[in-house]
Amino acid sequence: MRYVRIEKAKPNMILAKPLYDSVNRVLLVAGTIMTQDYIQRLSGRGLDGFYIEDDLAKDIDVRDNITQELRNEGVDALSRGDLDACMEVAEKIVEQIMSHPPISIDMIDLRTYDDYTYRHSVNVAVISTIIGLKLGYNKNTLVQLSTSAMLHDVGKQMLKTQILNKQGSLTQEEYDHVKQHPQLAFNILRKRMDISSKVRAGVLSHHENEDGSGYPIGFAGDEIYIYAKIIHVADVFDALISKRPYKPPYARSEAVEYLMGACDRLFDRKIVEVFVQCVSIYPLGTEVLLSDGREGIVAANSNPLRPVIRLFDGEEVDLSDSDRYRNITIIPETDAILV
Ligand SMILES: [Fe+2]
Repeated sequence: MRYVRIEKAKPNMILAKPLYDSVNRVLLVAGTIMTQDYIQRLSGRGLDGFYIEDDLAKDIDVRDNITQELRNEGVDALSRGDLDACMEVAEKIVEQIMSHPPISIDMIDLRTYDDYTYRHSVNVAVISTIIGLKLGYNKNTLVQLSTSAMLHDVGKQMLKTQILNKQGSLTQEEYDHVKQHPQLAFNILRKRMDISSKVRAGVLSHHENEDGSGYPIGFAGDEIYIYAKIIHVADVFDALISKRPYKPPYARSEAVEYLMGACDRLFDRKIVEVFVQCVSIYPLGTEVLLSDGREGIVAANSNPLRPVIRLFDGEEVDLSDSDRYRNITIIPETDAILV
């Protein structure tokens, strides 16, 4: 299967993975033959793209780190504000990831504008858990981390929706309002004796920066609890690669570059270094434009910066073959769209 951005979608493409709306109703089942009408409606809902089946990519298997059912269960639990259900999902995320330790984060989550907030929190839990696994955490620690990540933005439920959904930049007053959400979440979780103080610490400090410039307290360096440092990296990465009403998605290569550039200032360097080992910079099945003008899809990415590209005529270009392809580079996908 391969991923097609909505701008490049065409009628008669065959959907490889189902699409859901914000309340987990199936919009289109796998196997649907796309029409111009479907494409336009999905574009209007803010979907960035979808996976299709075709001959070029039939041997490319893009695996998600957790099942679609569990993602949907997480969205449902978060939308109901059901803390017990969220904790159950957080534990299941850890179990699924531990039972199939991921080689990399490849799958692109299929999100529309409406369901961004909850799907984002599930994604942050998945990414944080994978980082924790790479750090050698045991199951109990991973469950705490995953729970903290699932719940990191529950305080936003208490913010004014017109400010949360505002398109365009916030006034200082509005920004100050949004900045209350870690403390609001902490207050909600404090009432629950069965939720560890470590989970609360991760939630409270997920917007703190290494140099002390974050909020709500202005903690710096080692004052920031480790779960919060991990959630911070996962949160910013997932937000950058997401399509939002006010911005196009960053290419993963650009998002990784941003994280690396902000080490020691915003992020803990060690966490970013571990994260970069976990994420596919060029995910399997995504389209790329090469610097010589040829286009294709990522067919293999065990060499993260120099993957194997399958061109649309079927020829394969193994960029790790430095003798043949030393001069060819990959143009980031957001730039490629503008070409
Ligand atoms: Fe947040």
